[in-house]
Amino acid sequence: MRPPLPLLLLAACAACTAQIAWTPIFLDGSSQVDLWTQSSSGCACPGGDGDDCACCVRDGACPCGDVAPARCAQCGMEQYCANMCNITIDSRILKSKSGKTFGQIKSPSIEGPGACSYFLQPDAGQRVEIQLYRLVSVGKFNGTSCVGGWLQLGSASAVPAGGAAETRLCGANERYTPPVVLFADHGASTLEFRITEKTVRSQFLAFFSFTSLSNTQGVGFHPRGGSRIPHTDCDWLYQDVSCRGPGSCVLASPGYPGLYPPHRRCRYLFATNSVHTRVKIMFTSILLPRNHCTTDYLTLRAGSSPSASLLGTLCSERTATLEHPGPNLLLEFNSGPLVPPYDYNGFIAKLEFIERVDSSGSPPTVVPASPPLAALTHHMQHADRIPIDSSGMTNEVSGGSSARMGCGATVRAYGPGGARSGHFDSRAGPWRSQCVIHLLGAPTDVVQVSLFNYNLRLPSCRSHIEILEGVHEFGGRGERDRSERGDRALLRVCGPAVREARDPAGRFLIRQAVTSKGANLTILVRRATQQTPDEEEFVDGAFAFHDEQHEGTASPDATCAATHYGLSSPAHGGVSAPSHHHIFWNIEERLLCTHRFIPAANQSVTIEIQRLERMWSAEPAGAAGAGVAGGCRTACGDAGCECRSHTPLYYHDHVALVAGDGTHLSCLCGDFQAAWLPVVVRSWTSVRLEYSVAHYTYASRGFEYAAAYSFNDDAMCGQRTYTTHSGEISSRNVSVTGSLNEFFYQQCTWVLDSNVERQLFIDITSEQDKSCGSWNITLHEWSGGAVGAGEGGAGGGAGLAAAAGELLYTFCARHKNHTYTLPWRLNTVVIRLVALSRQQPLYSIRWRSQVVRANTRLGPPTPAPAASAAASSLGLTAALLYCVLCLSLLIQ
Ligand SMILES: *[C@@H]1O[C@H](CO)[C@@H](O)[C@H](O)[C@H]1NC(C)=O
Ligand SMILES: *[C@@H]1O[C@H](CO)[C@@H](O)[C@H](O)[C@H]1NC(C)=O
Ligand SMILES: *[C@@H]1O[C@H](CO)[C@@H](O)[C@H](O)[C@H]1NC(C)=O
Ligand SMILES: *[C@@H]1O[C@H](CO)[C@@H](O)[C@H](O)[C@H]1NC(C)=O
Ligand SMILES: *[C@@H]1O[C@H](CO)[C@@H](O)[C@H](O)[C@H]1NC(C)=O
Ligand SMILES: *[C@@H]1O[C@H](CO)[C@@H](O)[C@H](O)[C@H]1NC(C)=O
Ligand SMILES: *[C@@H]1O[C@H](CO)[C@@H](O)[C@H](O)[C@H]1NC(C)=O
Repeated sequence: MRPPLPLLLLAACAACTAQIAWTPIFLDGSSQVDLWTQSSSGCACPGGDGDDCACCVRDGACPCGDVAPARCAQCGMEQYCANMCNITIDSRILKSKSGKTFGQIKSPSIEGPGACSYFLQPDAGQRVEIQLYRLVSVGKFNGTSCVGGWLQLGSASAVPAGGAAETRLCGANERYTPPVVLFADHGASTLEFRITEKTVRSQFLAFFSFTSLSNTQGVGFHPRGGSRIPHTDCDWLYQDVSCRGPGSCVLASPGYPGLYPPHRRCRYLFATNSVHTRVKIMFTSILLPRNHCTTDYLTLRAGSSPSASLLGTLCSERTATLEHPGPNLLLEFNSGPLVPPYDYNGFIAKLEFIERVDSSGSPPTVVPASPPLAALTHHMQHADRIPIDSSGMTNEVSGGSSARMGCGATVRAYGPGGARSGHFDSRAGPWRSQCVIHLLGAPTDVVQVSLFNYNLRLPSCRSHIEILEGVHEFGGRGERDRSERGDRALLRVCGPAVREARDPAGRFLIRQAVTSKGANLTILVRRATQQTPDEEEFVDGAFAFHDEQHEGTASPDATCAATHYGLSSPAHGGVSAPSHHHIFWNIEERLLCTHRFIPAANQSVTIEIQRLERMWSAEPAGAAGAGVAGGCRTACGDAGCECRSHTPLYYHDHVALVAGDGTHLSCLCGDFQAAWLPVVVRSWTSVRLEYSVAHYTYASRGFEYAAAYSFNDDAMCGQRTYTTHSGEISSRNVSVTGSLNEFFYQQCTWVLDSNVERQLFIDITSEQDKSCGSWNITLHEWSGGAVGAGEGGAGGGAGLAAAAGELLYTFCARHKNHTYTLPWRLNTVVIRLVALSRQQPLYSIRWRSQVVRANTRLGPPTPAPAASAAASSLGLTAALLYCVLCLSLLIQ
């Protein structure tokens, strides 16, 4: 006897239980045996031989004939009456034969192991839908997966990206009312029925439908307004520009409103082009398996990276509305194993991008107390942090709204209501055809401006944007200084021109930014006098004032770089993480900010890292340690602190101190602990402090740090060329901070030069018991070039370093005391000291010269000067050169 298969007549109900929806499949309303058979007997048989055959439903059914006289099948599928296994169902053929785009699949009763597959070919604009009602002896669920047998709906052409697990259903004897609903959206699909263990009788019953995507009952769901991110399994990008009207953007879990596949991670990135846009996500339905919140859940993050800060998690909620400012939000949907009885279907959400004028979500603005210099002057041990005023901007704005700076606004960097950075938008405030925004800095400020979006319509530059040095008033008088203005424009954008902050793939465009030379800047937008709202000509962007005296000289080409010169900068100061985030609004990648410290010839620079916040790693998706601090480790040794990671350092937040020659003096990342601070580096050559945020985003801005610097007067490497025949160079003690992690970096080069023939004896002594690796002194031949350029500061030092030729000897501290006897007539010698150590190198170098050659034991026979012209050694050539000089001096 056949198993009693349920009769399912799901009239009038497209969304019956909770939010799971399926296509109603019914015929006539009176079928008794199965979908196509009304009764198993009582009707005339095909061919006219008797009337004890099955009665078929009127619409779309055909009798099976001799193979199964008691049954009917869907027209076009009669050949499968006896054995519905390994068949192809093509939507178009089915529609033409039976007038239907749905039907039933009743597997034969197979003896395991065995398999049947059903190839489902949808037409354009259709998705494949399966409604499973019955499983008999089809494996079982062991808690994580199906063993012994299963039913699976998958793509007919490709395995899912990354070998992701398929949706496999199993059960010993299951009736599903309502059915388990599955949708496939990847074209031709295969329903696979597989029994891998021994069974007596395995069977399933399902309905299928080629469901139109234009179905409005929920079953035709397809995402709207987003774009698939290529080479991903289920990731999507939604941009504000493509989600203008309400309901124009919709997203959902894969296979919605059916069961979603197991073990997936789908990411939905929401990206805005405008500073003022907020993202509103309305989850109209969330249905996840109960008590599986550790595996099946949704997260929302402030930024495009999975390691960005978490804004919220959803799991047991049925609906929810979340609203956050941009520029990027990342929604992540995670699924675990399939959980019987498969009565959940994920989520569906509408997306809106809202233009908000209120400043509740506006970023903190740095407002130093006046007078500014007092607030900004830091001293080594007391590097106070610049106060961050998170109450929003309170700018002096004339003729504009209080939150946005629009036409006619004057922004002052200091004084009551001053703002050090902010956004501007020519659309804020009353409309003017000639829109002027003034940015007025303090005397030591420069102004940085970055343009995000603009639209200029009039051709031939009749619409334009100009960014000008200084303060310019326009109006009647404005016409007069037009030529002058043209010369002084730092940036001029001519209409017609359109810029959107992002490209169609959602990536921010390369920044379009300028830095002034002076303290004041004027932004001018000239546009057509007639404007329709949707064609409005505008510009928006951000500005920041940069105090060159205290924050270093801004590098005009770099996003975030400043230089502190030992001679012109204050001798002491503090540096910290950038605070003028407004101009970084359109950065969504690694942010690298550098401070270069260039000591003068007789100076060293000390940099003390005093405070450091937790740092993160943003390793590529799937890499171990993603989003945690474990990806990078700091190890401090005798030669500084080091960042250790298996992936390139730019994947990890870090602070590094790098010498001008590229030597890494110290690097702090990952697990670095506050207790190990301060880290101090004293260097006699230039040092660059690198602040690197692995994945910067305006909403979650990286980490804080504070460092103090001081330029010290110590001429340790000062005097560089000695022409005396004897002398001494000794280390001088410098004051130490006593920090456990204090490091000294020296690269000194001295030249002993003589213009008469001599033999040099060099004694080097040290009391320190240090390894050769921590510091050493080397003696080199002179490699040519002019001697005597040693007083030119750090640059001169580099020049001398280059003069070091072939290595003759190496002195290490553990040698204690050594005398080097140099070859006769090696008149010019280069001495180099290299040190990177926890202790300052202590040494003494003494030299003396013997001008008259004492004996012939020390060198080859001395040829007459004229005869030695063929001498080829570099040292010899140099010596000869000086000899010729001295001869000519003698002649005079
Ligand atoms: C269906 O096809 C599969 C693979 O081609 C085969 O292993 C299986 O035996 C077939 N089933 C039947 C009932 O013919
Ligand atoms: C369930 O079956 C899978 C596949 O055979 C196996 O890897 C897994 O360990 C099993 N789980 C349990 C809890 O037995
Ligand atoms: C900037 O403009 C203000 C106001 O016009 C003026 O007082 C100040 O001198 C200007 N600063 C510089 C450096 O030109
Ligand atoms: C550096 O110091 C040395 C000795 O203290 C002095 O002779 C030299 O002139 C100084 N150089 C500069 C550039 O100040
Ligand atoms: C320099 O410091 C060392 C150790 O701190 C000390 O032994 C030495 O006497 C000092 N030298 C001078 C010249 O002050
Ligand atoms: C000399 O000292 C420097 C700096 O500490 C080190 O990098 C280098 O390896 C040392 N040279 C030798 C031969 O040990
Ligand atoms: C170095 O050693 C020599 C003998 O090898 C000794 O005469 C001299 O005094 C020593 N110099 C120092 C500074 O220790």
